[in-house]
Amino acid sequence: IPVEPFDYVVFGATGDLTERKLLPALYHRQLAGQFTEPTRIIGASRSELTSEEFRKHAQQALKEHLKKGEYDDAQVAKFLGRIEYVSVDATNNRGWDDLKKLLEEGKERVRAFYLAVAPGIFGAICDGIRDHKLITKQTRIVVEKPLGRDLDSALELNNTVGKVFREEQIFRIDHYLGKETVQNLMALRFANALYEPLWNANHIDHVQITVSEEVGLEGRAGYYDKSGALRDMVQNHILNVLCMVAMETPYSMDAEAVRDEKLKVLRSLKPINADNAGYLTVRGQYRAGASRGGPVKGYLEELDGESNTETFVAIKAEIDNWRWAGVPFYIRTGKRLASRVSEIVVTFKPIPHSIFEPSAGRVVANQLVLRVQPDEGVKQWLMIKSPGQGGMRLRHVPLDMTFAQAFDSRNPDAYERLLLDVIRANQTLFMRRDEVEMAWNWVDPILKAWEETGQPVQTYTAGTWGPSKSIALIERDGRTWHEPE
Ligand code: BG6
Repeated sequence: IPVEPFDYVVFGATGDLTERKLLPALYHRQLAGQFTEPTRIIGASRSELTSEEFRKHAQQALKEHLKKGEYDDAQVAKFLGRIEYVSVDATNNRGWDDLKKLLEEGKERVRAFYLAVAPGIFGAICDGIRDHKLITKQTRIVVEKPLGRDLDSALELNNTVGKVFREEQIFRIDHYLGKETVQNLMALRFANALYEPLWNANHIDHVQITVSEEVGLEGRAGYYDKSGALRDMVQNHILNVLCMVAMETPYSMDAEAVRDEKLKVLRSLKPINADNAGYLTVRGQYRAGASRGGPVKGYLEELDGESNTETFVAIKAEIDNWRWAGVPFYIRTGKRLASRVSEIVVTFKPIPHSIFEPSAGRVVANQLVLRVQPDEGVKQWLMIKSPGQGGMRLRHVPLDMTFAQAFDSRNPDAYERLLLDVIRANQTLFMRRDEVEMAWNWVDPILKAWEETGQPVQTYTAGTWGPSKSIALIERDGRTWHEPE
């Protein structure tokens, strides 16, 4: 369904996020016929470029980041035709009048400001937007992580943006919420009668959330070393996924309804602090090893310095509420792990009593595996009888719904959906202020505990599944990490 005409103003237009994600995502939405004319994309950054120079830059970005067969000359020409550029330096007040003049023409359109810039200049940009009276009735602002590095800085950042924009105008993006499988969690849970009655501590033994990456620092040392895996991945992406798994049924898909339920989950997370962090969390850092068949450097070599930053974290989290009492949520994420895979694994309780002879084989507990990436899909593992005459032999097999096989359609990038949800003013898949703060409220004491107790990073060889302590974290409970296929 096409959206209303809009002007998307992207601050940080020459940056990495714009090139890799935003421009390709908007191009795909044009290809899908979702734009209504007149619609413009306005790049803004400090670089002194003309619109024509920026169009060339955008064309190059599309060439580099679109997949084979997606680059279509006519479509790209049309896309470049909607691009304008203004050089704005928010910190010294340059270029705002040019931007204002450009926007005059689109007063009636939806206007979105996307801050693809470091949070340090959110304030200057928001103030500039306000002072130059660029906020119309239909204006929204999009902000990206890192939304703070602890609770205090998150509060400050929210205040900075909140001084200028009302909450319903603020879209805090977490691209994990735009991923197909994460949204599919809602469909699976709330559009089927099958799962919801079982979705609780009576029937679920435990949940695992794994977000593993093969990549290392990717030239982001400056940011990453100050952040670490807990801030970079858990505070946002993993907690959002956990909320989608654990929340109560919202009364509708309405943004407030969904976010109210997510917030309740965050509020119910059992605190981790200096008393229990050593037991419930594992920090890791990769040393030299191998990835994709070749040698790779260790974190400290990549960094070229000393550091105690974790590139891996595993946590045993618990949700202290009626539905989830006693059900552990094991989460782990890291760089330079054995493979790139994100998945959610829900393991049901074992059957109460087996009627089968030992010769039938072991009855394995049912598992629901939601694969977020790659090979998006859902597998429900069940026990069946092995076909044939050899008597009763049990087998653990998946009901397999790999999306690429089941549907003959391309899997859109997470940003595609989210960018247009901004235009539609649909905040369901964006974080509300209180959610971000509550997530920090849980993460902050973990960071403090690590600092206070000096919890060391355990080194792990690049290309493996992380430090052995992470295996111990789950195995001491008599469970094992799900081995991604
Ligand atoms: C980003 C993190 O938010 O998410 C990166 O800053 C990480 O460190 C990335 O690599 C992972 O996203 P995806 O979509 O590739 O799983």
